Amino acid sequence: MGFVIAVDGPAASGKGTIAVKLGQLYGLPVLDSGLLYRAVGVKVLAEGGDLADAAAATAAARSLESAELESPTVRTRGAGEAASRVAVHTPVREALRDYQRAFAAQEPGAVIDGRDIGTVIAPDAPAKLYITATPQARADRRWKQLIGQGEAVSFEEILADIRTRDARDEARADSPMVAAPDAVLLDTTEMTIDAAFDAARRIVEAARSRWETAKG
Ligand code: CDP
Repeated sequence: MGFVIAVDGPAASGKGTIAVKLGQLYGLPVLDSGLLYRAVGVKVLAEGGDLADAAAATAAARSLESAELESPTVRTRGAGEAASRVAVHTPVREALRDYQRAFAAQEPGAVIDGRDIGTVIAPDAPAKLYITATPQARADRRWKQLIGQGEAVSFEEILADIRTRDARDEARADSPMVAAPDAVLLDTTEMTIDAAFDAARRIVEAARSRWETAKG
């Protein structure tokens, strides 16, 4: 395995931004695995299906095409909710697993952000981060982001979304949202994005030194 950096954590913790910046720093390709689940949710809804219907969601996951990840719809509030509802189905997760594992297997490595990267997709990743922040801090970030995208939504609604989504992601039986035992926790509540990236970079640098030493 190359130098794989697993960046997990709850919604709007800053993991996506940190993953992109780490990718730039190390010259590694970056995968936002949440986009896969978002695109599956969006596809089920577009086809008039039910998010609780595992068969419909699995068919959507198996037929997913890269163009579907590019649609602005996958970035909306509704897509985040739909994503976490299809993400509970084991066959959906299985349908998306090979693609993510192949992405992680690239040389010289990859950065992947999500919920189960350090636990299920790339358990042997040499660098693992688990990015958190309080629900209030995350709701504030997500609210500003969605307002910027032109969505009319209140802070309270977003805070409620975040709490519902955390609870669902933590409670699911298959690949729940949890820090890998060997992940380094980074709480970004009081940090600017620059400070959070700086902290993440230092953690990854230490992991990279250990990885290079172990490689010999
Ligand atoms: O951007 P945000 O953090 O809101 O969410 P996301 O990373 O786009 O993920 C959307 C949803 O997809 C999450 O709430 C999870 O339910 C699901 N997901 C997952 O189950 N496993 C992953 N590796 C990534 C996302």
